[in-house]
Amino acid sequence: MPEATTESGLPMKAVYGPQDLEGFDPSARLGEPGSYPFTRGVYPSMYTGRPWTMRQYAGFGTAAESNARYKELVANGTGGLSVAFDLPTQMGYDSDHPLAAGEVGKVGVAIDSLDDMLVLFDGLPLDEVSTSMTINAPASTLLLLYQLAAEHNGIAADRLTGTIQNDVLKEYIARGTYIYPPAESLRLISDIFAYCHAEIPRWNTISISGYHMAEAGATPVQEVAFTLANAKAYVQAAIEAGLRVDDIAPRLSFFFVARTTLLEEVAKFRAARRIWARMMKEEFGAQDPRSMMLRFHTQTAGVQLTAQQPEVNLVRVAVQGLAAVLGGTQSLHTNSFDEAIALPTAKAARLALRTQQVLAHETDVTRTVDPFAGSYVVESMTDDIEGAVEALMAAVDERGGAVSAIEQGFQKSEIERSAYDVALQIDAGERVIVGQNRFTVEADEHYEPLRVDPAIEAAQAERLERLRADRDGDAVERALATLRDAAGGTDNLLYPMLEALRARATGGEVADALRDVWGRYVPRETF
Ligand code: 3HC
Repeated sequence: MPEATTESGLPMKAVYGPQDLEGFDPSARLGEPGSYPFTRGVYPSMYTGRPWTMRQYAGFGTAAESNARYKELVANGTGGLSVAFDLPTQMGYDSDHPLAAGEVGKVGVAIDSLDDMLVLFDGLPLDEVSTSMTINAPASTLLLLYQLAAEHNGIAADRLTGTIQNDVLKEYIARGTYIYPPAESLRLISDIFAYCHAEIPRWNTISISGYHMAEAGATPVQEVAFTLANAKAYVQAAIEAGLRVDDIAPRLSFFFVARTTLLEEVAKFRAARRIWARMMKEEFGAQDPRSMMLRFHTQTAGVQLTAQQPEVNLVRVAVQGLAAVLGGTQSLHTNSFDEAIALPTAKAARLALRTQQVLAHETDVTRTVDPFAGSYVVESMTDDIEGAVEALMAAVDERGGAVSAIEQGFQKSEIERSAYDVALQIDAGERVIVGQNRFTVEADEHYEPLRVDPAIEAAQAERLERLRADRDGDAVERALATLRDAAGGTDNLLYPMLEALRARATGGEVADALRDVWGRYVPRETF
């Protein structure tokens, strides 16, 4: 029988058997669920103790519009919030900045100030719900605005739970929402680690992401290898900044994709946990088991959705969601079936959540931990992926580590090569995409996408005008000058940043203060 290959290009046998697990010692290779090396999952009871968090990524338009969507999701049973910001917010520009034109409220919610943050979370119990914020270069700004919004509602910082993505290294490799040069970005990220350890101890300080690299074309092995290499760089930077590994590592988290190739994805998650646990224990000398637990969020593969016959995506998302659950995810976003066309409609977003609820309440996968343990195929694939990931991480180390490899364009070129191979396979019909290059139909029935009202741009500009008129401009200027001075020094930046934002400085003004000192990162052309 012909031998297949996995998405990672590894051999996949038609039949696996006892010979494939010869000498396999489950107690050494797997450990118990909730114990080192955490292959079987990070908690002893996993979903039998608590189901994963159903955390649907959402946000568009004004803070008021997004607030309504969050309330709808909470009413429909979502367990955690996940905020999508528009590109101006992600790039550190206010809604009335010339570069924001046409993007305000488009791919996420427009947040310029504390006033917008108060509207965004109005009526939501921030001391009960955990909130993820997909924000990277200005992550410190949005974290502090969240803290100030909670403070405004009488909730102390040490009761807040949630996550900021705060993973700028993957932005240089894929996705692109970086602002400052790598060294300054790593300094700011280490400041966030230290600040949260002191002030917001239950906050997950970073969501080290493989998702976007996967969406850009990375194979499962590349996704895990480049993500863990980035994670290694963050831990190293924190230690060089004088932080203790067991003070910061328990609050690092991760973010991966779940593809339709379920078996390889389950093996991928299990291998990632084992590699991370070993690296933290053996390379960084972590003592606290929580420093060795790879806790992660998963989003189903957006790039595998089709615009043709969009309802077929409901099936893809269900399989991908199942892969994430069988792989032991802590938090899950299931994509809406219409996302290959536009931002999800309310009905599509509800169906995406219902998919998770069927997995959690109608299947039996939550009744036992790591059901694939001992499987000839999944244990073999877990080992194969582990070996390939470690080899690729060694290749990154040979180039001086993640940051140096990024500056050489190594990760980006490896991912682009993988993406190109897949595109050739699809064009040649070797890789079947149901509804797209096989099993196609003529014109689809009518579908009305969700549209963001362009008038939001003017509305946000008016809000900014009023904010600047109402605030104490001198106090803001003094606070921003203090921040600029701190950016040139070594003190933790989040404290002066907090005072500037409390005085109603905008996100753009804070980002500009740092740009004034650090400049904006412009990557060298590497080919
Ligand atoms: N036994 C014992 N305790 C358990 C348990 C069990 N079985 N299950 C959960 N718990 C506990 C945990 O210890 C935790 O307690 P703690 O806060 O005191 O530690 C609590 O219950 C919550 O459990 P988790 O921390 O596992 O679950 P969360 O959902 O709170 O956190 C996470 C998950 C991965 C650690 C966190 O970082 C997270 O929520 N990440 C989400 C990231 C996200 O949503 N990103 C969206 C990206 S979208 C994007 O990038 C844009 C687009 O382009 C894709």
